[in-house]
Amino acid sequence: MKIIVTENYEEMSKKAAEVIKDVVKNDKNAVLGLATGTTPIGLYKELISACEKKEISFKKVKTVNLDEYVGLPKSHVQSYDYFMKDNLFNHIDIDIENTNLPCGDVKDLDAECARYTALLGKMQQSVQLLGLGSNGHIAFNEPGTSFDSTTHIVALTENTIKDNSRLFDDISEVPTKAITMGIKNIMNAKKILVIASGKNKAQAVYNMVKGPVAESCPASVLQNHKDVVVVVDKDAASLL
Ligand code: F6R
Repeated sequence: MKIIVTENYEEMSKKAAEVIKDVVKNDKNAVLGLATGTTPIGLYKELISACEKKEISFKKVKTVNLDEYVGLPKSHVQSYDYFMKDNLFNHIDIDIENTNLPCGDVKDLDAECARYTALLGKMQQSVQLLGLGSNGHIAFNEPGTSFDSTTHIVALTENTIKDNSRLFDDISEVPTKAITMGIKNIMNAKKILVIASGKNKAQAVYNMVKGPVAESCPASVLQNHKDVVVVVDKDAASLL
């Protein structure tokens, strides 16, 4: 793992954006694996700015997102589909037809899991961006998830529901299930970029980098991947 420690969130966003920009510059047909959450927002702003300055173009780029809530329509402001349009896709020159998220608003969730896994089989991520849960989750793969997992439905832990409740009016509105890429789908990416910011991520960063490789900390599996770049601010790196 290559670890880059930055002074603050802004610098983390800039350094991590450089990794994605390099991939897009070197491969106009790149497949970007993308994440939602608070952490990537600054990075997405950097990508928007680079696109506006014509440093990079997303015209031929394809994307696959990590996850989506179950039961929220795409139009819901807290759906990950909405988030991606609002924070990135609507502001860059990407063809929206080239963007992919698992859909959590369908009757047959098993069929949707199978569809998404098959899609990922055809579209290997040139780089997969990951945020980190405070309990070490990656995508919505909570502690205890099999390292062999592919796209599946998860019941979110109380810890994750609590973390996410800040974005909803009331904790009772937070969906309790999600559809997520599995750990095997994530590990299949050519390159993995992990970003984390803040003291509340310090233990998870430590466990990811220095802890045993164990299903109790899903992010620890990344120690087994040959090309991982971790960009964290000094608060998130404080236990390393
Ligand atoms: C988001 C995702 C999650 C987040 C993680 C950190 O698509 O898969 O694993 O990356 O929960 O979230 P933030 O960045 O909000 O701290």
